[in-house]
Amino acid sequence: MYEKLQNTDRQRRMTVYSGRSDKLKNKAAASVLSADMLELGSEIKRMEQSGVDMLHFDVMDGIFVNNITFGLPVLELVRKATVMTIDVHLMITDPLKYAERFAKAGADIISFHLESESEPMAVIEAIRQAGARPALAVKPATPAEAVYEYLPYIDMVLVMTVEPGFGGQSFMYDMMDKVRLIRERIRAAGLSADIEVDGGINDKTAGIVKEAGANVLVSGSYLFGAKDMKKAVNKIKDDFRC
Ligand code: DX5
Ligand code: ZN
Repeated sequence: MYEKLQNTDRQRRMTVYSGRSDKLKNKAAASVLSADMLELGSEIKRMEQSGVDMLHFDVMDGIFVNNITFGLPVLELVRKATVMTIDVHLMITDPLKYAERFAKAGADIISFHLESESEPMAVIEAIRQAGARPALAVKPATPAEAVYEYLPYIDMVLVMTVEPGFGGQSFMYDMMDKVRLIRERIRAAGLSADIEVDGGINDKTAGIVKEAGANVLVSGSYLFGAKDMKKAVNKIKDDFRC
């Protein structure tokens, strides 16, 4: 019964997310890496009340990146606490091994890195099979062309705008050509994948990434550090284009 209820919940979230006209709206994803972990429950409420569209959940294994964050048990708790879309960003060496478990633990979207050791098409397949939406993430040194062949099979491309590993780093302006190229390629192919950017997003950089063609904006230190999270969310989601 609980499982059934969970599935219905998941379907409702997916339907809302996958509506075509809704899909390319600007969305704000708050990175819980910057939340007060001792107060996670109230931080999640704060995100919901501030109009955050997605909860971004950074998983780091200490091997793919140096840092270690949180994993499946924490995701299960977060899932019980919210109906927000959960956007899991796997910075791990072998995403194929864990894709199904993260989907079952409550992820709606799972981003994995092209630079990981798993075969990308196998991971995409595993994520879909498990009922979540696959997204392909690329580190700053990986060129736009590397994702082209996967575009028909994924729902989102995650372009890192900092080196993955830590919150609070400076935005890499030179990633904008990559965003532009990927957006052009998505359009030319008649696809409708989202482009997510992650790292250094704030009220100053948000306009630049949207102008380049990104529509899902992850933000950690800016959103959680803002006095008024709702205002900060509105600032980065604003449809203003440079
Ligand atoms: C970095 C993470 C990001 C991070 C962003 O490896 O993937 O999601 O939390 O944090 P800010 O917005 O502080 O750059
Ligand atoms: Zn992330």
